[in-house]
Amino acid sequence: MTNFKMNIDKLRLPLLGKEATIKRKKNCMTQCLRNWIPTRLFPHRISNLKILILAVLIVVLIIIPIYYYRLSQFDLKYININYSTRPTPNIRCSMINGPRLPQNHDHKTEARLRSDPKVLVFVETMYSKLGKDIAELLVHTRIKYKIEVAGKSVPVLTSLDKGKYGVIVFENLNKYLQMDKWNRELLDKYCREYFVGIIGFINPSEETLVGAELKGFPIFIHTNIQLKDAALNAASQILRLTRPGETVWGPLPGDDWTIFQANHSTYEPLEWAHKIDDYGHEGLMKTPLTTIVQDHGLFDNIQRVIFGSGLKFWLHRLLFLDSLSYLSHGQLSLSLERKFLIDIDDIFVGDKGTRIKPEDVSAMLSTQRRIQNMVPGFKFNLGFSGKYYQHGNPDEDKGDDLILENIDEFRWFSHMWNHQQPHLYDNLTQLIDDMNLNKNFAKEKGIPFDSGYSVSPHHSGVYPAHELLYTAWKRVWNIRVTSTEEYPHLRPARLRRGFIHRNIMVLPRQTCGLFTHTIYIDKYPGGRDKLDESIQGGELFQTIVYNPINIFMTHMSNYGNDRLALYTFESVIKFLQCWTNIKLSSDTPLQLAESYFKLYPEETDPIWGNPCDDPKHQKIWSKNKSCDSLPKFLVIGPQKTGTTALYTFLSIHPSIASNLPSTETFEEIQFFNANNYYKGLDWYMNFFPVDVNSSRYMFEKSATYFDGDLVPKRVHALLPHTKLVTILISPAKRAYSWYQHIKAHGDTIANNYSFHQVITAGDTAPKPLRELRNRCLNPGKYSQHLERWLTYFPPQQLHIIDGEILKSNPIEVMDELQKFLKITPQFNYTGHLRYDEKKKFYCQVLNGERTKCLGKSKGRHYPPMEEKSLKLLQRYYLSHNTALVKLLKRIGMRNVPQWLQDDLTDSPT
Ligand code: A3P
Repeated sequence: MTNFKMNIDKLRLPLLGKEATIKRKKNCMTQCLRNWIPTRLFPHRISNLKILILAVLIVVLIIIPIYYYRLSQFDLKYININYSTRPTPNIRCSMINGPRLPQNHDHKTEARLRSDPKVLVFVETMYSKLGKDIAELLVHTRIKYKIEVAGKSVPVLTSLDKGKYGVIVFENLNKYLQMDKWNRELLDKYCREYFVGIIGFINPSEETLVGAELKGFPIFIHTNIQLKDAALNAASQILRLTRPGETVWGPLPGDDWTIFQANHSTYEPLEWAHKIDDYGHEGLMKTPLTTIVQDHGLFDNIQRVIFGSGLKFWLHRLLFLDSLSYLSHGQLSLSLERKFLIDIDDIFVGDKGTRIKPEDVSAMLSTQRRIQNMVPGFKFNLGFSGKYYQHGNPDEDKGDDLILENIDEFRWFSHMWNHQQPHLYDNLTQLIDDMNLNKNFAKEKGIPFDSGYSVSPHHSGVYPAHELLYTAWKRVWNIRVTSTEEYPHLRPARLRRGFIHRNIMVLPRQTCGLFTHTIYIDKYPGGRDKLDESIQGGELFQTIVYNPINIFMTHMSNYGNDRLALYTFESVIKFLQCWTNIKLSSDTPLQLAESYFKLYPEETDPIWGNPCDDPKHQKIWSKNKSCDSLPKFLVIGPQKTGTTALYTFLSIHPSIASNLPSTETFEEIQFFNANNYYKGLDWYMNFFPVDVNSSRYMFEKSATYFDGDLVPKRVHALLPHTKLVTILISPAKRAYSWYQHIKAHGDTIANNYSFHQVITAGDTAPKPLRELRNRCLNPGKYSQHLERWLTYFPPQQLHIIDGEILKSNPIEVMDELQKFLKITPQFNYTGHLRYDEKKKFYCQVLNGERTKCLGKSKGRHYPPMEEKSLKLLQRYYLSHNTALVKLLKRIGMRNVPQWLQDDLTDSPT
């Protein structure tokens, strides 16, 4: 406050100087004018009063415009801040110190054990607006759900005597009320038996209803009403996240609200509002109208919450989450704890005139103290770029110094020394040198540098990962945590996630609506109302409600000028206190990261996307990298079906090129299925050097991709348009070939147990034997694995080769494959492949004469499979093979392979 006053005084000083001059001028004015006007012209003496009037006129007409002109010039040059408009966080609420949580705040009851924490959402259509809002809210809060289009039959509701859904939601309650008798009874029976509640929304109808009965219930509705001033029933047991006591003053969004009237004790209002034109008599409002009603289940033993409007009104989003929690008996409850960190990137970075001054630093400190009272452990987290220290005007340089005088008041992390984007470095030494400059600056100024946290300018190098950045971070700063908005993409924000790469935890980062250049409230994009809306129930408020751990990005410029960051955060924290029971606290980035990955362990593994699919990612990707360094098709296996033969035949093609060989796994890279995935995208792309002289069709073959659980998901993330090639032979034969293969490689278990012993090993067999059995048999469950691929890729991208035809007629197979890959002109394999009598397989023709066959390990000689093993496997694979036939027909494969027909007909029943 003192600083603010000081600032105003400083501003006034030059004005006072001018005012004094004007006064002096005015005093001499009459005398001077008297002397100046020649008496010859005016022989009669002019009266003092007239001279005074003349003088005033001169002042008004000449001096004042000049004065204001000069003042405006002064303004433009030195005063960037319009102090009259700088916003103050004056959010107040009557209940701020009132009781915080209702008694039954965790909603837990015994019934919770009977159904899964999952929501079944009946939508009108797959595209309906409210349905989408509901799904997005569930994604944001990571609540599991299943969408069904209402009107069709009810999906299976139970599994092994357990309910599959904890709450059922109807986007349009009418669809529930008008369900056919059979389905309605089924659903109601499920709700009663498993204590599952229903949430329903009354959809706006074209026809205005007045006192219409909700079909079959003692409750009446009035529709299409405009409302204002919403408040909550403080006695409601549903309230948990939401805190009652306040009123949302003013008109509520939309003119199509429904209100409820009931005269049965099962109904209790949750939310009320007033008609827009309700001014009451003598200033007294009429009785409020119920806009959300709770049905306690006293009428038909099913609990419900019915909303008179959708999720457009921010408060309904909170009440929807509370209803889910209440009706699921606490199973679908969000924690009330929220961790909160505000990064201030770009400390010392910024143009003259936009940086922070001493009074801004004082304001930061006093706001920080106030926030600390509301958010225990809170400190602004400052990211510095030392190169730009003292690069402002004199006042701003003092601001830099005042920050450093208060080092201990803040948390600190290193930005880049010169704010350079790390992806622009292709030289590790240069990157390390620049980081060291910042480290030396930190040492010199006494800035702590052991937080283990860093943020990269513009997210560059974090995702898409620039491996040099990860290496340099580790070496110079021992970084263990960073954060980005870019993983997997900036938008939609609800899908932002974390991952761990090279032992560095990458946390998702949230935006607050302030960017480097949003520094004046009157220039806020969309106007001040937009920022206030975001704070008061809108995007920023909801971000904190939905995310248990929040790291916000702000910039130094947001703390100078109109200090919008101070305003925004203090306001939103106060608003959260008014309307929610959320407990905010803060921590170090390292502790936040540890909490995050404890909460979401499934996010540990990264998913590498294609940087070229996102223009923002492409901007922060090295110019030396290219998406041409990625394969256009993959041969995915499974093992022992002829994949090496296919790989070799493809490599003969003049327009097709395979990856460079791996030193460990030879022709196979095995990126998507194994630990190589953690080596990152750069590692993978190094196998596909771009040949500027030819544009060959690049491919990769790794036979273990076929049955890898995570592989389809990972491939789809990086190569969504890739074509997939698989080869299938009889799964029984494949299992036997695989056994012979690993036996030949000296596997001790395979050498100690016969094939029959391996495939018949029971659950009590030694673990290594059971593991070998699984590795032998699992890849042959073709339908299961193909279904997984088909959840990510359309059938048009998948080509299935019959491995028996590959053996007997590879030329036909290669012709078909080229057609599928749309490779023109087609390469004629006739003169390039020849059957080799000795090898008993097709081999590559060299110089039109000799043939080059695959090595000894392909097309091995081993005794035929025992009949008993064959029969056993045919029976074992029967259900899988039957499912495979169905799948092949479904995806349009006209001819079912002969081996598949044989396996099915020969299988003992
Ligand atoms: P066997 O060695 O059991 O006969 P993969 O390359 O996927 O490991 O598959 C090896 C299998 O490819 C061999 O299994 C063999 O049957 C089959 N194959 C198909 N065409 C071949 C070819 N032209 N030369 C050698 N093996 C071929």
